[in-house]
Amino acid sequence: MKKIVSKIKNKISSIIFKPKTLEQIFEQHYKTFLKTGKTPPEGYNTLLGLYCESNGKFNEKINKEIKIKNPPNKIIAPLEGIIGNFNSKEYETINETLNKNGYVFFDKKLTQETLTELTAFALKTPTKTAPLYDQAIIYNPAHPVSEIYRFDMQDLINNESIQNLIMDPALINVARNYLGCEPIFDFPAMWWSTAFLKEASSEAAQLYHFDLDRIKWLKIFIYVNDVTPLNGPHCYIRGSHLPDAKPQDIINRGYARIPDADLLKHYKKEDFMEVCAPAGTVFAGDTKCFHKGTPLKKGDRLVLEFEYTSSMFGANYPKLKIKNSSKVFKQFCLTNKSYASNFEFDV
Ligand SMILES: [Fe+2]
Repeated sequence: MKKIVSKIKNKISSIIFKPKTLEQIFEQHYKTFLKTGKTPPEGYNTLLGLYCESNGKFNEKINKEIKIKNPPNKIIAPLEGIIGNFNSKEYETINETLNKNGYVFFDKKLTQETLTELTAFALKTPTKTAPLYDQAIIYNPAHPVSEIYRFDMQDLINNESIQNLIMDPALINVARNYLGCEPIFDFPAMWWSTAFLKEASSEAAQLYHFDLDRIKWLKIFIYVNDVTPLNGPHCYIRGSHLPDAKPQDIINRGYARIPDADLLKHYKKEDFMEVCAPAGTVFAGDTKCFHKGTPLKKGDRLVLEFEYTSSMFGANYPKLKIKNSSKVFKQFCLTNKSYASNFEFDV
C-alpha cells in the first residue's frame, strides 16, 4: 500500500512540477507583451531559442496569428513611390521574389536631391563609433578613426528627408504584403562604414549572421553612395531566410557570427550574393537570411536602413521621439496610427 501511495505521489508531483515547454514560456511572455507593450527580457530569449529549435518555423506560426488579428489594408494601386509606380500584379511579383529569395531590388533610384540632403546630414550630424559607442563624433572622411560610425535613431527620425521616405506608400505596400498585416514602422538606421580596420569586424557586422529582433520584419536598404567591391557591398545568402533553410548545426550556435567557410559547406556558391550598386539603389531584405557587410578596402559606404515589423514583440528599443516634424508627416502619423505607433510626438 505504501508503495502504491508513493507511486501516486510521484505521478502527481511529476504532473504538477512538469517543466514548462519553451512554447508555454513564450506564450506567458507574449501575453505580458500584449498587456503592457513591453517584452520581458526572457521573452526575447525564448523567441530566439524557439527560432533556432524550430529552424524558423515558430516565427511563421506566430506571424500567422498576427496576420489574422491585424489583417492588411487593401492596397489601392497604383501609388507613386520612390521605388516606382506599381499595379497589384507587380506588387505580387515583388512579394513572390521576396518570399523566394529573401531580397528584392528596385530599378528606380532615389533622386539626386534626396541623396545630397542625406549626405549633407551625414557629414554634419554626430555619430557614435565602435567599439565603445560613447563619444559623439562627426565623421571626417579624410581621417577615419573607426570602422563604423552609427547615427542616433532619434536624430534620424527628426530629419525631414527621412520623414518623407518613411511616408513612402510603395515601400509601405511592399512591407504590408510581405508581413501579411498592417506594418509598424520600427526604426531608421544609418551608418558610415570605412576602411579603417581593413579586416572583418564583428562590430560592423562584417561576418555572416542572421538578425532576430522581432517575430517577422522587413528591412529596406538605401545605398546613399556608390557601392563597389572596394567599399563594402552588402552580402546575403539567397533563400536562407526560409524555414528549415539553415543548417541545424549552424543555427544551434544561436545568435553567432559565422565564418564564410562554414556556410560554403552548406549553400551553393551561386546563392552567395554581393550587392554592388550605384548611389540611390533601394532594396528590401528579410535579414533572417544570412547576411553581412564586406570589409572595406578603400573609401567609405553610407547606408540608410528602415525596419518594418508585424509586431513590436522582441527587442525593447526606446520610442522614436519626434521633436521636428513637417506638417505633412504629423498629419500622416495621425491618419496611420498603427504604422506610427512607435513614434512619440513632442510637437
Ligand atoms: Fe544584421
